[in-house]
Amino acid sequence: MEPNVRTPRARPILDMNAYDAAGAAAGPAGSLLARRQANIGAASVLFYREPIEMVSARGCWMEAADGRRYLDFYNNVPSVGHAHPHVVEAIARQVSVLNIHTRYLNRWTEDYLDRLKATLPAALSNVVLTCTGSEANDLAMRIATEATGGQGFVVTEAAYHGNTLAVTGISPSALKRGALPTTVETVPAPGSAAYGNDVAGGFRAAVEGAVQRLAGRGVAPAALICDSIFSSDGVFADPPGFLAPAAQAIRAAGGLFIADEVQPGFARTGAAFWGFARHAVTPDIVTMGKPMANGYPMGGVAASPDLVARFCETVGYFNTFGGNPVAAAAGLAVLDVMEAEGLQENARVVGVHVLDRLRALSAQDPRITGVRGAGLFIGVDLCRPGDPGQPDPELTTTVINGLRDRCVLIGAAGRYGHTLKVRPPLCLTREEGDLFVDALADTLASQPPA
Ligand SMILES: Cc1ncc(COP(=O)(O)O)c(C=O)c1O
Repeated sequence: MEPNVRTPRARPILDMNAYDAAGAAAGPAGSLLARRQANIGAASVLFYREPIEMVSARGCWMEAADGRRYLDFYNNVPSVGHAHPHVVEAIARQVSVLNIHTRYLNRWTEDYLDRLKATLPAALSNVVLTCTGSEANDLAMRIATEATGGQGFVVTEAAYHGNTLAVTGISPSALKRGALPTTVETVPAPGSAAYGNDVAGGFRAAVEGAVQRLAGRGVAPAALICDSIFSSDGVFADPPGFLAPAAQAIRAAGGLFIADEVQPGFARTGAAFWGFARHAVTPDIVTMGKPMANGYPMGGVAASPDLVARFCETVGYFNTFGGNPVAAAAGLAVLDVMEAEGLQENARVVGVHVLDRLRALSAQDPRITGVRGAGLFIGVDLCRPGDPGQPDPELTTTVINGLRDRCVLIGAAGRYGHTLKVRPPLCLTREEGDLFVDALADTLASQPPA
């Protein structure tokens, strides 16, 4: 091996751009940082070499305690914009009228579900509401195992699907050490690096291989579960349609196809309301969360009545807070805003503009070895100059902190932590997109290649 060629090391998603509590001072006694570390201990995860204290936010901007305003290119939860007045008003109004679990009838929950279902394939006409994406994926796993009799799951190499015991088991990117359960097999994310020119065929063959490896251990497949924009894998969007053959492959083996829409759902990819729709595939189960209620905790699982009924024959499911009237009011308000402000189209148009500008930047800077995405979900790979085989997570972290210094907030993704994850609120303007690309160019220029 050449001396300057390093073997890339897989990085857990929560370690990327994380404040290093062990390596840095905890701040003066009584400071917010010291109190945070004392209160939450090792479970505390903070961004940046120097964490930021936030005090308020509006639209695409967040304001910090030091008086600086930061352009938010990270947060996909306040998808219609931070503190959107229509959502704020809907939550405040509903919480002052009725907020109760769903074992009584209330019209807000059904109004919301009717509106939500109009965005989904007709076959998925039952929706179970939860509070988080993790709960939604946990439930989807249980529905799939019950329906198929299988226990096996196929996931991508750097997938993240949430934080329950079961869901952590299908989230390779959550692991710091140890191994995945023997019921789980991984496949490389669907990009040209792994599959060359035939991403669809290669990904399907990889899923078939994973099913065979499970069979070799006596495990039948329950499902292939994919984040349909492959966010933590590093954002893989093209060519549209590549998911369909893999979905066919898992079904041929007796498993289901679960689309995890927690990241790409709710219009983010611009081309469609759901990420799977870009791939012309109807999943057996769709899970959702994050942007669903713009920050009010809300998630959900959509499936056919048959799948839901089969699951409920064995075990009951009730979620105390899931789909309560306040969540429903918030969710409804999000759908209102998306429609009224044309946010799907905005994501498409502004997304193309940002992608074009990033591609132009990559043509000038050989450290940018890949720019991929759809709508306002874009991944930018940073590597040793001109060598996509040499990921540069250190440069990526430096760039993220450099952007912070220039008042732009962004995160990392990818198996090796070398992909900038570009994921602003959907109300982003072209001018705000330009501010980001200009700040990125300036940051890279301040870090000349070694
Ligand atoms: C693709 C994906 N699925 C599920 C989840 C879990 O969602 P939550 O954190 O709301 O439990 C996440 C969270 O980051 C995610 O990125």
